[in-house]
Amino acid sequence: MESRGVRIGPSIMTADWLALGEEIARAEAAGVDFIHLDVMDGLFVPNISFGFPVVEAICAATKLPVDVHLMIERPERYVERFVEAGADFVTVHVEACTHLHGTLMSIAAAGATPSVTLNPATPIGAIEEVIPIVGQVLIMSVNPGFGGQTFIPSSLDRVRRARNLINEHNPNCRLEVDGGIKVSNIGRVVKAGADTVVAGSAIYASDIDLRSAVDELRAAVTS
Ligand code: DX5
Ligand code: ZN
Repeated sequence: MESRGVRIGPSIMTADWLALGEEIARAEAAGVDFIHLDVMDGLFVPNISFGFPVVEAICAATKLPVDVHLMIERPERYVERFVEAGADFVTVHVEACTHLHGTLMSIAAAGATPSVTLNPATPIGAIEEVIPIVGQVLIMSVNPGFGGQTFIPSSLDRVRRARNLINEHNPNCRLEVDGGIKVSNIGRVVKAGADTVVAGSAIYASDIDLRSAVDELRAAVTS
């Protein structure tokens, strides 16, 4: 896949929280394709991040698609409110939803693209039944909860297996990978079948300026 064909989006977990507007604008100017927002409730994951007001403010401030990754228990309680806040994609965890199919349908009914994800220890088969009704599958390549963690190597094989299921059941569905993405592994992740990549610390906590960090990630897709 051409590097331009691969979507790259920043997670703001390692951005400067006091300057979020500028951080989003800098990422936009550097040519990212979407913004990834990590919502954490302190129950599903051992960390608390932010909620509706921050999501709403960011959605209003950017023209880019916003991908809201819900790391919360029983996300069905809140998916409509995140769509109202401006989310274009709403991602829910299979482990957090008793009625996964219904929750994904309600995201679509509210007007956003339903997206499903799973933790590194959850068998890929857990999402097979819902692949036909989602617009995106997200493979977590770290245990969710924190930015700046190390990519779990077995994620590559999980991306390959998810790619096969998507090709079989819903070829237009996006395949996103999130967690520990760096210049050193993005090429392999794309080769394994990802078309959409989240990078947090590689963009916002890099030693080089933000634009160069995004350029280097893009260049590494093809090298
Ligand atoms: C982990 C989050 C990720 C993470 C990405 O719980 O879902 O989006 O913040 O950050 P890096 O790229 O630093 O792993
Ligand atoms: Zn995320």
